[in-house]
Amino acid sequence: MQIAGSAALVTGANRGLGLAYARELVSRGAAKVYGAARHPDQVTEPGVIPVALDITDAQRVAEVAKQCADVSLLVNNAGVMKASNFIGAPNTDAARAEMETNYFGTLSMCRAFAPVLAANGGGALVNMLSVGSFYTNPFTASYGASKAAAWSLTNGVRLELHHQGTLVVAVHAGFIDTDMAAMVSEPKISPESVAQQAFDAVEAGQVEVLADERTRTIKASLSRDQELVYPPVQEFWDSIVQGTH
Ligand SMILES: NC(=O)c1ccc[n+]([C@@H]2O[C@H](COP(=O)([O-])OP(=O)(O)OC[C@H]3O[C@@H](n4cnc5c(N)ncnc54)[C@H](OP(=O)(O)O)[C@@H]3O)[C@@H](O)[C@H]2O)c1
Repeated sequence: MQIAGSAALVTGANRGLGLAYARELVSRGAAKVYGAARHPDQVTEPGVIPVALDITDAQRVAEVAKQCADVSLLVNNAGVMKASNFIGAPNTDAARAEMETNYFGTLSMCRAFAPVLAANGGGALVNMLSVGSFYTNPFTASYGASKAAAWSLTNGVRLELHHQGTLVVAVHAGFIDTDMAAMVSEPKISPESVAQQAFDAVEAGQVEVLADERTRTIKASLSRDQELVYPPVQEFWDSIVQGTH
């Protein structure tokens, strides 16, 4: 689809990658860019219309879908990462919060906006996923589970919306230079690069973006993940547990 002239909505548009998505949409000539955020006063980017939205609030999601009935491009960017593992975490609160936002919140948005996209000619839906959709990193284990669920959701939504001509794009990335990865010292790609790759895919009709080298390597290794992906992860995690790192 053509972004120029379209109406788009980005969730979590107040900071980080969501802000980069909103800014890129404006620069590509989108006619209207709704910047959805829990605190809409934080959406100050020129050309972006603030909209109050917590994606875990199903009633508000429905209201926003009514209010923004001209949207033909939905970018499900909002997400949380609690740096929590499965067994070592004190309870399941982090795992539930991540699933509630990254999976159920994204699911709510897809369901509410599917008819809006249909009414506007099909359009496109972008789901912001992760390299963590493909394998479990113990440092962010429950986050990975929520992104794996969201990957499955994305593939299913693509199948279900094909008949209405909606392009469903999965964007996977490793570390991106935003608040979410602030504690990470490994190489990160810029949010601008992710936004550009995602919208290039939308304009080219491509269904998947693997935004960096690590993400491409992991995806290519999936059929042999127990040989290629997990042994170094296990070794590193064991060294942390044993205090030898
Ligand atoms: N940074 C990375 O390394 C990385 C890598 C791969 C994928 N991602 C994904 O990229 C997306 C954007 O993350 P980021 O890196 O920009 O992280 P970030 O800087 O932590 O920003 C997260 C954004 O999501 C919003 N958000 C969280 N929960 C929400 C909710 N219930 N309703 C509405 N908005 C909500 C936040 O709003 P508030 O300001 O109100 O908290 C914020 O705008 C996420 O889906 C993340 O999982 C990030």
